[in-house]
Amino acid sequence: MQLKFITADEAASHVYHDNNVGFSGFTPAGSPKSVPAAIAKKAREEHEKGNPFQIGIFTGASTGDKLDGELARAKAIKFRTPYQSNNDLRTLLNSRETDYFDLHLSELPQMLRYNFLGKVDVAIIEASDVTPDGEIVPTSAVGITPTICRLADRIIVELNRRHPKEIRGMHDICELADPVNRREIPIYTPSDRIGLPYVKVNPEKIIGVVETNEENEGGKFTPLDEATMAIGQNVANFLVGEIKAGRLPKEFVPLQSGVGNVANAVLGCMGSNKEIPSFNVYTEVIQDSVIKLMKEGRVKFASGCSLTVSNQVLAEIYADLDFFKSKILLRPQEISNNPEIARRLGLVAINTALEADIFGNINSTHVLGTRMMNGIGGSGDFTRSAMISIFTTPSTAKEGKVSAFVPMVSHTDHSEHSVKVIISEYGVADLRGTSPIKRARKIIDNCVHPDFRPLLNEYLAMGIKGQTPQNLKCCFAFHQELSKSGDMRNVKWEEYN
Ligand code: COA
Repeated sequence: MQLKFITADEAASHVYHDNNVGFSGFTPAGSPKSVPAAIAKKAREEHEKGNPFQIGIFTGASTGDKLDGELARAKAIKFRTPYQSNNDLRTLLNSRETDYFDLHLSELPQMLRYNFLGKVDVAIIEASDVTPDGEIVPTSAVGITPTICRLADRIIVELNRRHPKEIRGMHDICELADPVNRREIPIYTPSDRIGLPYVKVNPEKIIGVVETNEENEGGKFTPLDEATMAIGQNVANFLVGEIKAGRLPKEFVPLQSGVGNVANAVLGCMGSNKEIPSFNVYTEVIQDSVIKLMKEGRVKFASGCSLTVSNQVLAEIYADLDFFKSKILLRPQEISNNPEIARRLGLVAINTALEADIFGNINSTHVLGTRMMNGIGGSGDFTRSAMISIFTTPSTAKEGKVSAFVPMVSHTDHSEHSVKVIISEYGVADLRGTSPIKRARKIIDNCVHPDFRPLLNEYLAMGIKGQTPQNLKCCFAFHQELSKSGDMRNVKWEEYN
């Protein structure tokens, strides 16, 4: 078989209205860039002619603006799953112009195989290498690539020359067998390799290779503020306490940490705390701080689904591939996020909440219970199964007008049964082994912003009967007040009770 090199426009001509398209990558890392833009152009042209043109989209997680942004602005997305973080797409989901369904990321590959979500017509894959006999080496992320390549009728490869061929060996690719033939996943430490260094596809399905030379999008962090740093310190100190108390083994357990600034700060603080031994990472997104700690010898090994790092850090990795290939494995998300492995390895899982309630339930996705922010991502994959599940959040948002701690969350992603510890810049609420009323007192005393402590204490003092003292007339007063006056601090219970 000879590989056929084609243009992005030619590739887009093989994507038809109503097709379901699977894309490689996880976060902007590893997501295709040229072909999605060409599909958006085709959509605009068809719309101008009065023809319908929309596709269904399966991705690993969020993508870059060149994928989600371009296609959203072209009104080319019929449905989208599982996780997104693009402003233009978010607007379409919340106006219901685009159907969106939010899934645990580890489940998407098997849901596609089970045929729960419809057919995959086309797979569009960013690669660092592709061979005529059908070996595709991903770039800086894997996502759902093995599954969509196997299920799709047609495969388009974006061969991105920014990523060296020598990255081959950093990936560990396999797909799980489906029930009733599924067996255990033989990963007993984060560095265990169980698959191939490439995705093997039927070469006859590769309809063309589009050569590109484009850098990854995104991966920027805002400078750390005081609250973020304090959260990082509180997490590190809590974990030191757990080691000293013998509740965590002294050699530590692998760490999973979520996305964004707080996660980066937490890792930084753990790295600089010498009472925490050098540790392994078993996570979905490997961020800049992990690479820095790896160079310092504080992170021994990192298994993940993507290198969601700044372009500068990616260049550093590529400049020293021998070192990093011995310390990093990139896996499909059904392996990186698999609850079986999270439970077996006994992870410490650290994720971020939008809001928490005083009884320990977490909302990670819906602002005021209605507007989708990003999606649940991998937080549920890890939270339910980790040894210690921690949620972090700044105590307030929007210049102090919004309390991250409310009587009842306006949407529940993680329930009190899974959440073990909540940490804000004020301190730590260790919820293990506590009743609802004790959880509430710990959260109010240790995590809530002082502006909101009296209000939440008054809520508890209303004397509601039952094991969980919720007042069903007042439990959403914080949210209602935010909609009414723009400031949760204005709540007066008598107006709601
Ligand atoms: N009510 C209303 N708005 C709120 C809010 C609340 N309770 N809490 C935060 N916000 C706003 C912030 O003000 C900010 O608004 P802006 O963009 O206008 O400035 C926005 O929401 C994002 O908040 P920020 O503190 O910057 O959050 P973040 O970047 O740390 O992201 C999540 C927080 C929860 C959205 C993000 O972690 C997420 O998507 N999590 C779910 C998926 C996940 O956990 N993945 C990792 C698994 S491995």
